[in-house]
Parts: sequence; C-alpha cells; structure tokens
Amino acid sequence: MNGHTPVDEMTPPVGPLSSSSARAGLAWVEEGPSSPRHHRAESSARRTAPTPGAPGDLTLPMRFMVTGLGTLTLLALVYPWHLELLRGSFYDPHLLTFVHVNTLGVIGAVIFGASYQMLPIVLQTPLAAPRLARLSWWLYLPGLIAFVIGLGHGPAALLGVGGMLIYAAVLLYVWVIGNNLRAAPTRDTTWWHVAAATTALATGASLGLLLALSKYVGFLAGLTLPTLAAHVVLMLGGWVTPLLTGVAYRLVSMFTLTEDRLRETWATRELWLTAGGAWTLAASLLLGLGTFVSAAGAAAILAGLVLFGVQIVRLYRLRLRRSPDVHIPFMLVSMASGLLAAGLLTWGFVSGRGPFDPIWIVVGWLAIVGWAQTAIQGFLYKIGPFLTWLHRYAPVAGLQRVPMLEQLYSRRLALAGWAAWTSGLLLGALAPLTTLEGVPVAAAVCLSLGAAAVILNGARVGSHWLR
Ligand code: HEM
Repeated sequence: MNGHTPVDEMTPPVGPLSSSSARAGLAWVEEGPSSPRHHRAESSARRTAPTPGAPGDLTLPMRFMVTGLGTLTLLALVYPWHLELLRGSFYDPHLLTFVHVNTLGVIGAVIFGASYQMLPIVLQTPLAAPRLARLSWWLYLPGLIAFVIGLGHGPAALLGVGGMLIYAAVLLYVWVIGNNLRAAPTRDTTWWHVAAATTALATGASLGLLLALSKYVGFLAGLTLPTLAAHVVLMLGGWVTPLLTGVAYRLVSMFTLTEDRLRETWATRELWLTAGGAWTLAASLLLGLGTFVSAAGAAAILAGLVLFGVQIVRLYRLRLRRSPDVHIPFMLVSMASGLLAAGLLTWGFVSGRGPFDPIWIVVGWLAIVGWAQTAIQGFLYKIGPFLTWLHRYAPVAGLQRVPMLEQLYSRRLALAGWAAWTSGLLLGALAPLTTLEGVPVAAAVCLSLGAAAVILNGARVGSHWLR
C-alpha cells in the first residue's frame, strides 16, 4: 500500500496495547485495514483481553532510548580515533572505556528502555513500581558518565561512585522486572528467557561493581582476571543473549504474523543451552574448572544459537508477508555474528588460546557490535515507527490523512546504513588479526556511516512527535 490511506478506511484496531492488538495494528498500519493478514491478526487480538500494560507514559522508555541513541551519536563521531584499540591489550583502560560506552551506553540503555515499554505487554502485567523505574534513569545517566570517565584515566573516585550509581540503577531495574515476572499470569518461554537474563544481569553487575571497587582499592588481587572473565560472560552470554533471543521470538513472530508457528520446545531448549552454557563458562572461568568445562560451556552457547537461528529462519520462510522487511537484514547479520562469536569462543578454548590472544577481542567485538547492537538496530526500525504511529496518528486516523508506517523513515537510508554497518563490523573483526594499515580506520568510517543512518532515521521518526 502506497501513499496516504483513504480517510474513510480509517478504523484503527489499536486500543490499549496488548501484544495481539499491537500485532493487529502492525498489520493494519503496514498493509491496510482490508488485508487478510490484518483480519487474522485482529480476530486473534479480539480473543485476548486488552493488557493493562498500556503504553501510557512513553517518557520513561524515551529517556533511555535517547540516552542510547545519544551515545551512538557520540560513537559515530569518535569511532575513527578508537578502533586502533582493537589491536592492543584487552586491559587497556581506553578499551575498557570504549567497551562500556558501547555496552552500558548503547546496549544497556536501549534494553532498559525497551524492557520498561515492552515487557509489561509481553508479560501481560502493568509495569511494577513505575516511580522506581523512573528513578533508575536518574541514577543510570550520571552513573554512566562518571563510570566511563573513571574507567579511562579519570579520577579513581569517579569509577567507584559511577560504578555504585549504575549498579543501583541496575538493582532498581531488576526489582521492577522481577516484580513484573512475579505478577505475570503465565510462564511461557519468553518469561523464562527474561527471568534467566535478569538473574544473570544481577550477578554480572555485582561482579562488575566488585571489579570497579577493586580497581580503586585493589582487594581482588589475583582474582581480578577470573572475575573479569566471569563478568563479561554473564553480561554478554547470560544477560544480553537470552533477552535478545526471548524477545526476538515474540517480535519476529509478531512482525511476520507467525506466532502460531513458533516452536516453544525449541525455544526452551535454546534457553537451556545458551543460559546454561553461559553460567557453566562463567563458573569455570571464575573457579578455574579447566579448559574442558569452559569449552563445553562455550559449545552449549553455540548449540543454543544454532537452534535460535534455525527457528528464526524458519519463521522468515513461513511469513505471510513476502515483501522484504527492513529488520530482516539486520537480524540475519546479528545472528551470523552471534554464531561466529560463539564458534570462535569454543574454538579458542579447544585450541588452548591464552588470555592475551587477539581472538578474545574478536569474540567480544562480534558479540557486542555484531550480535547485540545490530539486532537492536533492526528492532528499533520496527518498534520506533510503530510506537510513533500508534501515539501520534492512531488517535486521528479516520479524521485526517495519516502516513503509513514505512513512510515515517527512509528505507533506502536504512538499507545503506545496514550495508555500511555490516562492512564496518567485518573490518573491525579483522582488525585485531592483521597488521594491515588502514583496516581500523576503514572499519571506523563504515561504522560511523552505519550509525549515522540509524540516527538520521531516528530523528526523522522523532520529528513526527513535533508535528
Ligand atoms: C553495573 C554495571 C557494570 C560495571 C560496574 C562494570 C564494571 C566493569 C569493570 C570495572 C571492568 C574492568 C575490570 C578490570 O579492569 O579489572 C569491566 C570489564 C568489562 N565489562 Fe563491565 N561493567 C558493567 C556492565 C557491563 C555490561 C552491561 C557489559 C556488557 C553487556 C559489560 C562488559 C564488559 C566487558 C566486555 C569487559 C571487558 C572489557 C575489556 O577487557 O576490554 N560490562 N566491567
């Protein structure tokens, strides 16, 4: 459907946002009210009672989203001066800072914002303790700034203060999401994914706080490296991974209208493998259980991601709407990166690589920039325009002409950004493995262009709130 939808067709199926009404709305906005996809989605929406977790207060998720996109803007400006760090030691304070700008500044901020918006809908229960959720942002932002300044060569006290503030924000988030989980009427596979992820976040962040305080006081001594390794694995493998996979099952099946085709048993097995693998690997690294146990943990993560990939590709094949969807290329690159990261991780242990081998930097790069940040971009291209449409245009649809969902951003720019981002991702993964001059700078330029495309499109979507 192109151009503006005729005014007399405007009877949007969007009320309080339950996942099924959202699904119906998505079909309606993308294809128009008479599409079979819309009718199928709408009848399923009618079957489900509206969920109380209505989108009402968007300022809470927006604050986190703006923090995440603001940090991405900063990164787009500074990539060219930082990718050379991929060729140095993983313990370089500047790399540690760069990593946390990426993880806490972009991934953490977007996940917190998206969770506050979407988990009440997915878990069918209103957001528990919205005030505490709002407070978490007020702790998160100053904590993030103080922490990353302290982690580079800033005053050591900033590291401790920033670490404690951000840890407090994490605890508030865990408390809120934990209460939502407790109140959820059903415990499906997404519930278990979120529960596993939140537990790993609480544990991994506690190890992070210990590391931050120890950098200041030095009490961890010989345990520093094992604690660092366990922190990294729990954050990336235990928290980000099950959260991405659990939410992806819901979102991808919603975007493609294949919810009834999702194989819950595969999803549950995937969770056992990825979360079980991450905890096994973290415990092995922390307690020194040996290469065999570490390799087994890494292999389990890999097997879980294979299962996830097979499931998502199957949903894409079964999708009703055959036209290419903008989130798909992002999701495919994200999954390929996750698989490559987990494959290299396993291979690194099997081949007995030492702690200072560049392969670990490649694994971290693929996990952070490839697996997490690329998937986040793909989801943002669907969720941002959808929420904007729902709030800005759904109330006036039928009374005046409103744009279609895909007209809220430039699809060409999105795909050009995807191509640039993917090139930067691949070049960045090569950087630690070669001494070829120019590779880090080329990677940086590509990533900056890719990030700029997301930011420009984000601004374009955001401009609809001002009209
Ligand atoms: C409460 C929040 C966090 C705190 C307090 C924290 C703290 C730290 C500290 C202090 C280090 C350096 C340890 C050392 O040099 O001895 C570190 C390393 C690391 N953290 Fe975090 N962290 C937090 C959140 C995260 C998150 C959310 C992620 C990923 C999603 C993450 C990923 C990493 C990685 C990959 C490294 C290793 C970086 C490298 O070796 O270059 N951290 N963390």
